[in-house]
Amino acid sequence: MSEPTSATPAPKRVRVHHLREAKERGERITMLTAYDAPTAQIFDEAGTEVLLVGDSMGNALYGHATTLPVTVEDVLRHTQAVVGATRRALVVADLPFGSYEASPAHAHATGVRMLKEAGAHAVKLEGGRHVAEHVRLLTSTGIPVMGHLGFTPQSENALGGKRVQGRGQDAAERLTEDALALQEAGAFAIVLEMVPAPLAAQVTEVLAVPTIGIGAGPDCDGQVLVWMDMAGLGTWSPRFAKKYADVGAVLSAAARAYNDEVRSGAFPTAEHSFTD
Ligand code: KIV
Repeated sequence: MSEPTSATPAPKRVRVHHLREAKERGERITMLTAYDAPTAQIFDEAGTEVLLVGDSMGNALYGHATTLPVTVEDVLRHTQAVVGATRRALVVADLPFGSYEASPAHAHATGVRMLKEAGAHAVKLEGGRHVAEHVRLLTSTGIPVMGHLGFTPQSENALGGKRVQGRGQDAAERLTEDALALQEAGAFAIVLEMVPAPLAAQVTEVLAVPTIGIGAGPDCDGQVLVWMDMAGLGTWSPRFAKKYADVGAVLSAAARAYNDEVRSGAFPTAEHSFTD
């Protein structure tokens, strides 16, 4: 990884208004999750516009069955690492389950911690109309908010598992109304997760703010994936994720080669030793 030096001019940080302008110009927005400094630096230098310190860390990083055990402290710690390693990407910290739902003031208190203690540039929370007032308070006090509709993993128990949302006329109308309510409350973008592609296209059309799809078809204004699903690390790969690499296989081969060379004495050589 390259070390940024004082001679390298800092790239301009992506701001929330840039995402709206990208939508107006018809330019697609790229977003990936990131949880640590080395991968955040790689994704930032690759030009990914938005890095989400997602509560998907519960599954992807910590091996839990759901996102529910993730704490505010977990997100703060990982967000600090990601912010510190990036120069251009907009870093969004997820508000984890139990840290915002009770009231707008509850959400505000957690949102403030994400910006003040971790340096996040924005927060994301799950839900529609019932969190609109939360979004309004956050945005009116300087905390940009990304919404999240469709399959919302924090409600997995209430939704009856990982299921496509918004199927049927009534559900589609409810989702569209939720999206409009979040936009009206000040959300700068809305994630649509596991939503039929035609509905995602329709919501994208009616909103002025960008939609970011995950399992929501090709017509959203941007796309997001959990980076391990995109890079082929881990055992679970959802149908909507495309694998752009096989990082798991590369790491496994490296570990096997290292083990073999340590056992055979081929590593370390003089090249890797201090001889005086
Ligand atoms: O936590 C997360 O990574 C997310 C994305 C899947 C949108 O919410």
